[in-house]
Amino acid sequence: STKAIILVGGPSRGTRFRPLSLDVPKPLFEVAGHPIVEHCFRAIAKLPEIREVFIIGYYDESVFRDFIKDASHTFPGIAVKYLREYQALGTAGGLYHFRDAIMKGRPDRIFVLNADVCCSFPLGQMLRLFEEKNAEAVILGTRVPEDVATNFGCIVTDSHTKRVLHYVEKPESRISNLINCGVYLFDTECIFPAIRTAIKRRTDRPRLVSYPSSENLETSFFADEEDGEKNEVIRLEQDILSDLADSRQFFVLETKDFWRQIKTAGSAVPANALYLTKAFQSQSEELAKPSATILPPVYIHPSATVDPTAKLGPNVSIGPRVNIGPGVRIKEAIVLEDAEIKHDACVLYSIIGWGSKVGAWARVEGTPTPVTTHSTTVVRNGVKVQSITILGKECGVADEVRVQNCICLPYKELKKDVSNEIIM
Ligand code: GDD
Ligand code: GTP
Repeated sequence: STKAIILVGGPSRGTRFRPLSLDVPKPLFEVAGHPIVEHCFRAIAKLPEIREVFIIGYYDESVFRDFIKDASHTFPGIAVKYLREYQALGTAGGLYHFRDAIMKGRPDRIFVLNADVCCSFPLGQMLRLFEEKNAEAVILGTRVPEDVATNFGCIVTDSHTKRVLHYVEKPESRISNLINCGVYLFDTECIFPAIRTAIKRRTDRPRLVSYPSSENLETSFFADEEDGEKNEVIRLEQDILSDLADSRQFFVLETKDFWRQIKTAGSAVPANALYLTKAFQSQSEELAKPSATILPPVYIHPSATVDPTAKLGPNVSIGPRVNIGPGVRIKEAIVLEDAEIKHDACVLYSIIGWGSKVGAWARVEGTPTPVTTHSTTVVRNGVKVQSITILGKECGVADEVRVQNCICLPYKELKKDVSNEIIM
């Protein structure tokens, strides 16, 4: 049998997702009408052979309770469980710590998904490649522009056999533009021994050697000494994958579908657009019907009120109980629960936080970035600024005020025009 694991991290992560992560754990932030983690979960639920899913992280037990309750209700055939790490154990440390729970019933294979990626999760294709190659591991890969590839795990492959020849996590120099999407399929008889070997190597050798990627070995050494916390951190990317490439049946499935990382708060906007497009292509009933004022794809929560003269889309998600007045224009944006957009206001390339109010004739706007950049910053007057404007929870924008390329922390009132700023 096959099981699946979703790695969600914990509260010390997702700092780049501020200010939105101040009010909701990143995996539960909603894009295209569903929490980020639910998009992963739904892809898993499509595979009939998967009956058990573990969400592994170090958030409090209570964080995923409602999500799991809902998921168990919607997918009664799948057992979902949250496994909490007592501290951050790393992407492989958690797997290893919970190996008994995972191995119960002796599954042959496990999927491991990073929760913070947005993609079509072609898990069925990964399974087929796995079987066809009699693989021990399959990684999902995608091509990105050369200049951004080193921000990710890089894969060198034999294009003919699809075998992974080398794997280097965030290399210092360019080695390949085929990168790790953060989605894996492992043979359970291979992955757990591989993690055990990595742990053994760590205990046998001085700790310093185990952190080759650290920019400053000395500081990392002292940091480890101080909190003693990182001792047990084992990472799939640095500690396991390159070994697999050396000695095992390790293959890559290269996807041509969309793929983005969800790191900064602004990256929720492209993720929203990609998931909405996917829903539109599959003719999802959830989306608003296209019309003269609805340019698809648009998601409107059933409890929201949208004036018929407001023009929405493309790529807009409107949350529960949101109120949108006459003459409003919204595109490429997420408007969260209980927000209010007054008449004739304009919201473009932005996220409007929970309960925020945008005044009449106000403009809240960001700047479009090409999909291929994999970045949510733009350079303006020689300064790097956020391309997406974000209003945190319960912010207010006064009538006729223009907010451009700003990040605004919760509970702020904007009474004057602002641009290219972080408002604290
Ligand atoms: N349970 C648990 N415990 N989860 C963790 C931990 C941990 O200690 N640390 C990270 N995660 C989760 C994160 O929530 C995320 O879903 C995933 O593991 C990877 O997070 P990072 O460790 O921050 O890595 P990254 O996102 O910078 O890079 C990884 O993903 C890229 C694709 O998005 C690497 O796998 C790269 O090679 C890859 O390209
Ligand atoms: P569409 O033709 O509507 O798809 O938009 P566009 O992509 O051609 O134009 P743009 O992205 O510049 O602006 C989007 C829409 O918002 C346009 O239809 C504008 O008329 C409208 N718009 C721009 N500024 C404002 C504003 O301050 N208030 C309102 N209500 N609408 C605005």
